Amino acid sequence: MSGFEFNKLMAAFLTAALFAMVVGVISDMVYEPEHLEKNAYAIEGVATDAAAEAPKEVPFEVALASADPKAGAKVFARCTACHDDSKGGPNKVGPELWSVVGRPVASADGFAYSDALKGIGGEWTFEKLDHFLTKPASFAPGTKMSFAGLSKVEDRAAVIAYLNSQSDAPKEIPAAPAEGGAEGGEQPAAEQPAGEQPAAQQNAG
Ligand code: HEC
Repeated sequence: MSGFEFNKLMAAFLTAALFAMVVGVISDMVYEPEHLEKNAYAIEGVATDAAAEAPKEVPFEVALASADPKAGAKVFARCTACHDDSKGGPNKVGPELWSVVGRPVASADGFAYSDALKGIGGEWTFEKLDHFLTKPASFAPGTKMSFAGLSKVEDRAAVIAYLNSQSDAPKEIPAAPAEGGAEGGEQPAAEQPAGEQPAAQQNAG
């Protein structure tokens, strides 16, 4: 091969390479393979509004679904001055709390409840305990429970999960409501208003 012919081959090769590069750059420009920051289309009623206005705190149901009863036992150390939580345990300054989740409000045998607590009615659900323990004096104005409250949702969820475990028949802790759900893009999720109760949801856990 002469030097001249070699140069011609080289030139042909470089031209081809240059052409390929230019095509590549142009196609990138045309197809813009950048990721959008948001979905280009909004799915109505799903998450967007809720996410914009969401408080920084995790919702109670979400905290409860992942609450650790063992962590709750530690939180309960702040309650033991006034409460016993063992089976058949005594009333102290406050009523005994064995199996309190699902128990009618103000129903421990032999404890003299305030009218405030007696007036609440119903039974202690997870949510009711959450509201009571956030600030007892607001939930039941005039209550005898002189305890400021647990301001952290994680603490409340943990201690409630712990109290739930202090029972012969702990209640099933509901699964956290699905949030966002952006992952499974194919799902026809539009029908369900955000924050709907997942009560019917069967959880294998
Ligand atoms: C200073 C004492 C005191 C402390 C501390 C205290 N409690 Fe109480 N608790 C009481 C009293 C007294 C009552 C009864 C209130 C009434 O009759 O108004 C009560 C009532 C309750 C009830 C309602 C029980 C029922 O039978 O209806 C629950 C649940 C409860 N406390 C949970 C807790 C938890 C959980 C903590 C710790 C985070 C705690 N308490 C800390 C004194 C206390």
